[in-house]
Amino acid sequence: MIAKTEEDIAGLKEIGSIIRTVLDEMEAAVRPGISTWDLDQIAGKLFKEHGARSAPMLAYNFPGYSCISVHDEAAHGIPGERVLIEGELVNIDVSAEKNGYWADSGRSIPVGDTPSHLLELCKATKASLEAGLKAAKAGNQLNMIGRAVEQVATKRGYRIIDGLVGHGVGRNIHEPPEVHNRFQPSMREKLEEGLVITIEPFLTKGVGRYKEADDGWTLLTWDGSPSAQYEHTLIITKGAPIILT
Ligand code: CO
Ligand code: CO
Repeated sequence: MIAKTEEDIAGLKEIGSIIRTVLDEMEAAVRPGISTWDLDQIAGKLFKEHGARSAPMLAYNFPGYSCISVHDEAAHGIPGERVLIEGELVNIDVSAEKNGYWADSGRSIPVGDTPSHLLELCKATKASLEAGLKAAKAGNQLNMIGRAVEQVATKRGYRIIDGLVGHGVGRNIHEPPEVHNRFQPSMREKLEEGLVITIEPFLTKGVGRYKEADDGWTLLTWDGSPSAQYEHTLIITKGAPIILT
């Protein structure tokens, strides 16, 4: 959507801050031995308290309040019996709606004492998101975001997972445009003031492709390598973007 009014911005800020609260509480509960089902209950409880609704449930009938993807699960993991193990990464992706406004945010979180190569992967993914945010400015071409994200990833020795992209958001969970994490020469449209998008790089040391799991939801890295993702929802302005999450 293009956020045009004060009401739009206030509605988006509200759902963004609910999502941030949910992610903070879930992150604080991450520890070896907790099941992804238990983590997801935190999202369910907080959505209810704040009058928000889970976006994946609402839009796609997803079997969980949030997407929880462990280690080689890159995205859209279903909360369930899986128990977190020390030294893994868990990605929690929370998206929700309130009063017709939608936002989306995700984080990869180390479980307990985690090997340094995975902490480095997280750092590089965060840095690539930061670079993408800097390129997200009214008047810039859409593809400058992907170029910035990809440059940081490549420089640090990681690959972008092809096909997992950011997106427009605001009045629904997935709106145009696609916000690629690599430079797409054809995507030269100019970013408009008020445009609401996510930026969400997925990085890996592996081959940079994904495959679908048998459960029909979970996206696994092609070769079983761990991956990391960080995601924010933001509003484009003439200066630094307004980060909602
Ligand atoms: Co997300
Ligand atoms: Co998203």
